[in-house]
Amino acid sequence: MKRIAVIPGDGIGKEVMDSAMMVLECLDLPFEYTWLEAGDAALEKFGKALPDETLEEVRKSDAVLFGAAGETAADVIVRLRMELDTFANVRPAKSFEGVKALHDNVDIVIVRENTECLYKGFEFEIEKGVTQALRIITRKASERIVRYAFELAKREGRRKVTALHKANVMRKTCGLFKDVFYEVAKNYEIQADDYYIDAACMYMVMKPQIFDVVVTTNMFGDIVSDLAAGIVGGLGLAPSANVGERYAIFEPVHGAAFDIAGKGIANPTAMILTVCMMLKHFGYVEAGKKLERAVERTISAGKTTPDLGGNLKTEEMTNEIIKNLDL
Ligand code: NAI
Ligand code: MG
Repeated sequence: MKRIAVIPGDGIGKEVMDSAMMVLECLDLPFEYTWLEAGDAALEKFGKALPDETLEEVRKSDAVLFGAAGETAADVIVRLRMELDTFANVRPAKSFEGVKALHDNVDIVIVRENTECLYKGFEFEIEKGVTQALRIITRKASERIVRYAFELAKREGRRKVTALHKANVMRKTCGLFKDVFYEVAKNYEIQADDYYIDAACMYMVMKPQIFDVVVTTNMFGDIVSDLAAGIVGGLGLAPSANVGERYAIFEPVHGAAFDIAGKGIANPTAMILTVCMMLKHFGYVEAGKKLERAVERTISAGKTTPDLGGNLKTEEMTNEIIKNLDL
């Protein structure tokens, strides 16, 4: 029995978590769920966006299934990733048949470092009108994330790992990351190359097929994973897994999407593919693949929410996915 801490959070986080639960119920796996609160609503209610009881329960669990937080995201999900030392944020961006997107044949996995960089939150006001942020990059964290990326490439039979950085300007921090990348790369028979982050953004929009596995530091990874989601059809499709030695957190790449929250039109795909990543993580590979195929069939049949051009509600699209599970 695996213990899953379920944190729906704010906005569409709650809506897509309902979809995840509908699907999980059908699959009937040995999971025990603990429902926990965190996010903007928790801050209002308890005075803390990540209440102590939530963190305590999370520590007793094997994994966290997370929806989205709103304005408190830094205090909730960014903090959870660091507290649980889930150092590798794995964010696939893959083309779907039947989705009108900027490109076809995209299959990128972004591996984002999760525990340091500017998102450490070391920010100060030196004096009025003068602020400062510290960017922490260590050899230890760089080595383990780069190794994770190469191991993932090896495991999945992928051809190349690309590092993204800005070592021409941030010579110390990005310089260290780039050096470590090539040191680790020597141990693998997998192609390794690197780009400056700005040029990489252009290439990703114009010819994303040159990328396979991408490894980068925390903030660049945050930005470039939304970009990659955008070229294959949007945030409604992008799942993610945060993986560490002891814990794992599964969450869609998107946030609370307050612009569409409450309308019942959020695309449940990102959250359901996130469930697929959780199933595979726990060794239920066949169930994960089956669910993935059900999502693919549903999308290629045009049974989607409005972001992909369809006219279904979140719950209706989820039901279509469930119907396709039986095939
Ligand atoms: P967002 O990711 O919530 O939404 C960006 C855009 O994508 C919006 O137009 C939204 O409607 C669309 N979108 C996102 N998910 C979708 C889905 N499943 N189906 C259809 N359309 C979808 O980012 P935004 O708008 O910048 O932030 C909204 C709130 O979420 C903020 O309070 C922010 O702090 C928070 N946030 C939380 C994150 C987390 O908890 N992991 C990550 C990013 C933002
Ligand atoms: Mg983000």
